[in-house]
Amino acid sequence: MLVVGNWKMHGSLSAVREFAASWTAAPPQVRVAIAPPFPYLAALAEALPEVGLSAQDCSSQPDGARTGEVAASMLADLGCQWVIIGHSERRQYHGEAEALIAAKVSRALAAGLWPILCVGETLSQRESGEHEQVVASQLLGALAGMDVTSVVVAYEPVWAIGTGLTATPEQAEAMHCHLRQLLRRDFGDAASAVPLLYGGSVKPDNAAALFACENIDGALVGGASLKAADFAAIVGAAV
Ligand code: PGA
Repeated sequence: MLVVGNWKMHGSLSAVREFAASWTAAPPQVRVAIAPPFPYLAALAEALPEVGLSAQDCSSQPDGARTGEVAASMLADLGCQWVIIGHSERRQYHGEAEALIAAKVSRALAAGLWPILCVGETLSQRESGEHEQVVASQLLGALAGMDVTSVVVAYEPVWAIGTGLTATPEQAEAMHCHLRQLLRRDFGDAASAVPLLYGGSVKPDNAAALFACENIDGALVGGASLKAADFAAIVGAAV
């Protein structure tokens, strides 16, 4: 199991210190990572060395004149092992489309990072029955032609992010099965080992039921990862 906390644009140096002070060690069979905003990556790595480090985004470019961007190689240099790519908030508020997301995945892999590729449908897409098709095109658009042995996929239905609405374990498992089948069809054996995370209002009280599903290999946790006790409870449910 892999449980990743996505702090989004929350936090401060004192919040990093407070989180680290109240963190209780994770069970050894669960891999845990936190994705704080860029300015807090180094502080978090120092305060909580036993937790893995993830970034929330990276540039599609290797380096150079790209003001405001952060290269995947810089994140690797800082000790990150993962980077979230194609989060629905990046797609929605920053207009990130398939080609850019694919370029970022490829840049992350080249830097030795594990991309955590986010896919997920909106409520209207689910209601009109397009959800499987939308997610398939996001998945294959970003991964076509790539080696998926170091890729993580996170299914995050947009309607469940930050809303308190969670996909039921049945809805999540059905989509994870769909993702697994698509990956197997296009990437063969390597697909079986791709961790499939669920994200969208994962909380201490719903995590265990989600983790019990056969094709759910962990979680990408937003709001509930900001409090050490809640995040630790979710990690504890992954055993
Ligand atoms: P949430 O966010 O857990 O607050 O719904 C999940 C995410 O966006 O990664």
